[in-house]
Amino acid sequence: MKDRLPAHVAVIMDGNGRWAAMRGLPRVEGHRRGAERAKEVITASVEMGLGTLTLYTFSVENWQRPEDEVSLLMKLLEAYLRREASGLVRNGVRFRAIGQTWKLPGGVRALIRDLEEKTAQNTGLTLVAALSYGGRDEIVRAVRKALAAGVEPGGFTEEALEGHLDTAGLPEPDLIIRTSGEMRLSNFLLWQSAYSELYFTSTLWPDFSKDEFLRALHDYRMRERRFGAVHAKETG
Ligand code: IPE
Ligand code: IPE
Ligand code: MG
Repeated sequence: MKDRLPAHVAVIMDGNGRWAAMRGLPRVEGHRRGAERAKEVITASVEMGLGTLTLYTFSVENWQRPEDEVSLLMKLLEAYLRREASGLVRNGVRFRAIGQTWKLPGGVRALIRDLEEKTAQNTGLTLVAALSYGGRDEIVRAVRKALAAGVEPGGFTEEALEGHLDTAGLPEPDLIIRTSGEMRLSNFLLWQSAYSELYFTSTLWPDFSKDEFLRALHDYRMRERRFGAVHAKETG
């Protein structure tokens, strides 16, 4: 058991702005460097045979940032998808976006749709990008979808809700990593994180290396997950 990889790792990639500020650079430089780290973590995940990796890339709240930062982030995202798409396809990655993707610029939306289609049959790493994502928003939209599908109050179960979340069909995150020292979820996977193990590091995202990713996975393996039950050794 303890040697097993988590089925799903989710990452709150935080600290790009502070990384840049510490170097007297514009925030966008932190985002640029952060994108390279995302690539490194994706590659490591493919290599180790991880099932699902979710990256919190842009939150619903992030739309409140200054217009020029938002537009630069969208440009970076578009460039990233253009540059990395063929490599992801080649590596057997199945790509999926969650969140209010319809709010993203047309160019980004088209690239996402294209990549989702091209990789739908892939069986390697499932790479989930949370884009214009908010946990509360996802839950409210799921309730609306369930109601529209005719779910009656008595039939409104946890499974009925889960089936309408953006993450339907994906395992819940076993491990959620957050960089930059903040110890909060910031509206990330609120429903799905009920029993996730949380790993916080003060490392800023642009400094988060493959080694540190491996350290987080090692830390996870040392944990005992009880899910509210009694430890196996104490029963019987
Ligand atoms: C994370 O880094 C990237 C996004 C939220 C898009 P930040 O931009 O939040 O960096 P800090 O937290 O200001 O350092
Ligand atoms: C969370 O980081 C969102 C992403 C990493 C995409 P934020 O920097 O937006 O979160 P807060 O504002 O510190 O809670
Ligand atoms: Mg931040």
